[in-house]
Amino acid sequence: MAGIIKRAAVVGAGQMGLGIAYVTALHAKIPLTLHDPSPQVLSKAVTHLESLLARDVAKRGLPQAEADAARERVTAVKGDGTGEGGGDLVAADTDIVIEAIPEITSLKTGLVRRLAERLPPPAILGTNTSSISLTKLAGSATLAGDGGASAARVVGIHFFNPVPQMKLVELIPALQTSEETLARARAFGEACNKTVTQSADSPGFIANAILMPMLNEAVMLLEKGVATKEDIDTTFRLGMGHPMGPLALADLIGLDTCLSIQKVLHNETGDTKYRPATLLQRMVDAGWYGKKSGKGFYEYK
Ligand code: CAA
Repeated sequence: MAGIIKRAAVVGAGQMGLGIAYVTALHAKIPLTLHDPSPQVLSKAVTHLESLLARDVAKRGLPQAEADAARERVTAVKGDGTGEGGGDLVAADTDIVIEAIPEITSLKTGLVRRLAERLPPPAILGTNTSSISLTKLAGSATLAGDGGASAARVVGIHFFNPVPQMKLVELIPALQTSEETLARARAFGEACNKTVTQSADSPGFIANAILMPMLNEAVMLLEKGVATKEDIDTTFRLGMGHPMGPLALADLIGLDTCLSIQKVLHNETGDTKYRPATLLQRMVDAGWYGKKSGKGFYEYK
């Protein structure tokens, strides 16, 4: 693995990007740059990374030297890695970039395009998208006259929140993705200490094709006054053995992220099972994004 991927970059230092940086540094032991245009987001991510490593030392028996080595592997860099709006470029010897920016199609296609123009193959262009078509993202990486080589290194590498804790990576090849890219991305996911599943480039892949309608139904039950939020969540925790109920889980994922995913799925399929609940839209309009903003279906300190 180390012979194949020696340097990584993660673009976007929110909760997913930070988690991906943590497993890359600690488990895969790969040096990486963590990019974000916001100095505040970057500094919060570094503080969170340090507290996760300190927790591993205090509670999980991680030797201090290993925690220090993991911390040293992560370099925070302002910008999105492409020079857009200032900031440093992703290093030329980067073998894999994983973008973890907001789930907005135009932002992701724009970033993938700029990365493709600046970082030559065979560097992998990985995306942590939860719902956007990989084939569309690879299409945005298509460069004139390269025989499809650039699009062939785009692949979905979908982590789950909280990344340090959830043991899965969903791998999604685009129609254009090469077997070599797929094999290297799988090896990377496994080096990050994750079990890897694979899905075709179908709306919602495996996880969100099933999860998002379930979360949305929970919001609709609440909206209709069928039950309280506590009773909806307790039903899933105690009745189905889920670690948390659907409304608490939506808060954890981020209500803005849930809404974006549902909009992408609804637009792409036209299927009403993906139509976001009005209450979900209203809560996002109110700026209630869930755990990350301090308020969603529940309140967080
Ligand atoms: N980052 C790192 N570690 C975390 C964490 C975080 N944000 N939150 C909790 N943990 C760790 C805790 O430190 C604790 O570790 P130790 O046992 O070593 O102390 C462990 O997780 C358990 O935490 P808690 O005891 O505080 O709480 P819990 O037992 O209720 O577990 C949970 C919290 C891990 C989040 C658990 O409730 C859970 O698994 N929930 C379901 C999460 C889930 O379904 N995630 C997938 C969402 S879908 C997605 O992400 C993809 C998408 O595209 C939308």
